[in-house]
Amino acid sequence: MPILSTKSLTKHFDGVYAVDHLSISFEKGKVTSLIGPNGSGKSTLINTLTGLHKMDGGVVAFGQHTNLEEIDPSEVASYGVTRTFQDVRLFEQMTVLDNVLVVLTDRGTISSFFSKHNAFHLDKAEEVLKRIGLWEKRNELAANLSYGQRKLLEIARILAMAHSPSGEAEIFFFDEPFAGLFPEMVKLIVSVIKELREKGKTVILVEHNMDLIRELSDYVFVLDSGKLLAEGKPLEVLARKDVIEAYLGE
Ligand SMILES: Nc1ncnc2c1ncn2[C@@H]1O[C@H](COP(=O)(O)OP(=O)(O)OP(=O)(O)O)[C@@H](O)[C@H]1O
Ligand SMILES: [Mg+2]
Repeated sequence: MPILSTKSLTKHFDGVYAVDHLSISFEKGKVTSLIGPNGSGKSTLINTLTGLHKMDGGVVAFGQHTNLEEIDPSEVASYGVTRTFQDVRLFEQMTVLDNVLVVLTDRGTISSFFSKHNAFHLDKAEEVLKRIGLWEKRNELAANLSYGQRKLLEIARILAMAHSPSGEAEIFFFDEPFAGLFPEMVKLIVSVIKELREKGKTVILVEHNMDLIRELSDYVFVLDSGKLLAEGKPLEVLARKDVIEAYLGE
């Protein structure tokens, strides 16, 4: 039973089909990767599934929430969905610690953050920031972090979702979490993703580094111009001639 599936999901921009009648399913507790050339629709798929873009056609099911013809971005957290952005998004003028506390108190509503956070939330924030190696930076403004630290803070924030009051996150979308990172940061995020899988969480990963795709993925979907080009186990899919021609050989 898939935790997330799409049927003929479509998203176009001025007639350009970024996601073109796509029907795919994601299994619970697995790492499923989305690969494909630049502009093949990977981020648009995530943006549409998380309600950031309005879908233009098709249906989506998140567990028992079936036959969704639109996805309300304010509802999507209650389906257990959380994500990182390809272009990292943080509360820039808040500290590292407060960026995590906001998530822990109430899915990002700032008003509740000032009134509600307590010792329990602080303990959890400390736990995720230590896990990700940013505890020492807790009083820095997010805007002052290095590129790599910003990517790590975004991951600390989605890990905090596992403790959110509006329910635990079950589906974690990572849109190029490793891009431009030093090897030790890559290693850390690899271990975080493996740990999520061990806990039975579902990970949907967009990544261009094929060594990481092989290491992490249980299953791979290859997109090309918003359509499904291939799917299967990573070693099999990455050896396919059409996949190599469309993507790997470029
Ligand atoms: N907000 C937008 N407005 C207009 N066109 C868009 C928008 N977002 C994406 N597109 C277009 O949709 C197509 C798919 O883009 P998308 O960013 O989803 O690709 P991607 O597979 O994530 O690429 P990359 O590997 O470079 O991140 C491209 O043609 C892109 O130009
Ligand atoms: Mg992208």
